[in-house]
Amino acid sequence: MNASTYVEPSESQPEIPLLGGDVTEGVVRVGDTVRRPVGSNAPLVHALLRHLEEAGFEGAPRLLGIDAAGREVLTFVPGEVAGRPRPAWIADEERLASVGRLVRDYHDAVAGFVMPDGIRPDQGVSRPPDLPPAPPYPAEVMGHADYTPDNIVFRDGRAAALIDFDLARPASKVDEMYNTMLYWAPLGDPADADPLLREVDVPRRCRILADAYGMSDADRSRLVEVAVLRTRRSWFSMRHIAEERGGGWARMWAEGVGDQIKRCEAWLDRNGAAIDAALTAP
Ligand SMILES: Nc1ncnc2c1ncn2[C@@H]1O[C@H](COP(=O)(O)OP(=O)(O)O)[C@@H](O)[C@H]1O
Ligand SMILES: [Mg+2]
Repeated sequence: MNASTYVEPSESQPEIPLLGGDVTEGVVRVGDTVRRPVGSNAPLVHALLRHLEEAGFEGAPRLLGIDAAGREVLTFVPGEVAGRPRPAWIADEERLASVGRLVRDYHDAVAGFVMPDGIRPDQGVSRPPDLPPAPPYPAEVMGHADYTPDNIVFRDGRAAALIDFDLARPASKVDEMYNTMLYWAPLGDPADADPLLREVDVPRRCRILADAYGMSDADRSRLVEVAVLRTRRSWFSMRHIAEERGGGWARMWAEGVGDQIKRCEAWLDRNGAAIDAALTAP
C-alpha cells in the first residue's frame, strides 16, 4: 500500500529547515508537519508508522501522506531533542531512565507488527564483502536501531517520542539496548564523548537503562559481547556506506569516525568487565 497524497491546508506556510540530523538533506518543518525526502526504507517505515498509529502508540510521528514535491509528510512532534551543542540535561539520570522506558514502550507497541508481503528492510547500501560476524541472537522486534540524542524528542523532562525510523530493521532486543547505550551511556572512549558525558559513570548508566527497559537476565549477560561484535562490524559497514553513499556518511568517515570506532573497541576491552558487572549485579 502506498502512502496517500497529502492535502495541503489552503493557507501556505513557510518551510523552516530542521537542522541537527547527520545525514538526511532537506528535512523541513511546515506548520505542524515535517517534510522529509522518501528514503529507500520508506515502504517498511510507512507500514511501521501506520502500525504504531493503530496500536495507539504516542511515541512516534504520524504519517500524513506524500506532498506534491514527493516528500513524506509527518506530524511535527513538539518538544526538544538533545541537538548540538548538547544540552546539560543529556547527562541527567532521570532523563536517561525515561529513554529506557520509551524504548520498552516502543517494543511493546511494535510487538504485533508483521512486515507486509513484498517489503524488505533496505538500508540503501549493498553488503560489504568483508563484514565480520553479527551477534548470534535472532531478531525479536522491528528495531528502530538509531536511538541517537537527535532522534528522541523530550517533553516535560522525559523522553516522549522517537523520530527518524530510517534505519528500522528486524533486531534482537539486546541489539536495540546496545544501540541505546552506545549513544546514551555512552559506549566509547571518553575522549570521543561530548564534554558533558566525558566523566559520567558509564556502567552505572548502562544499568539505569537496563532497569528502566526491563532487560532480561540473559540479555544483560549478552550486552558486552554484542557491543564488541557490533563495534567491530560497524568499522566495516561505516567505511562501506561512506564509499557507496557519500554525502553525510562520507563526511563522517573523513572526520575520523573509523578511528573513533577503533578507540571504542579498545575501550570496550578495558571496560567490558565493569559494564557486565553493573548490568548483572543483583
Ligand atoms: N516528526 C518530527 N517532529 C519534530 N522534529 C523532527 C521531526 N522529524 C525531524 N525532526 C527534527 O529534525 C532533525 C533531523 O531529522 P531526522 O529525521 O532525524 O533526519 P536525519 O536523518 O538527518 O537524522 C531531528 O533531529 C529533529 O530535531
Ligand atoms: Mg535523525
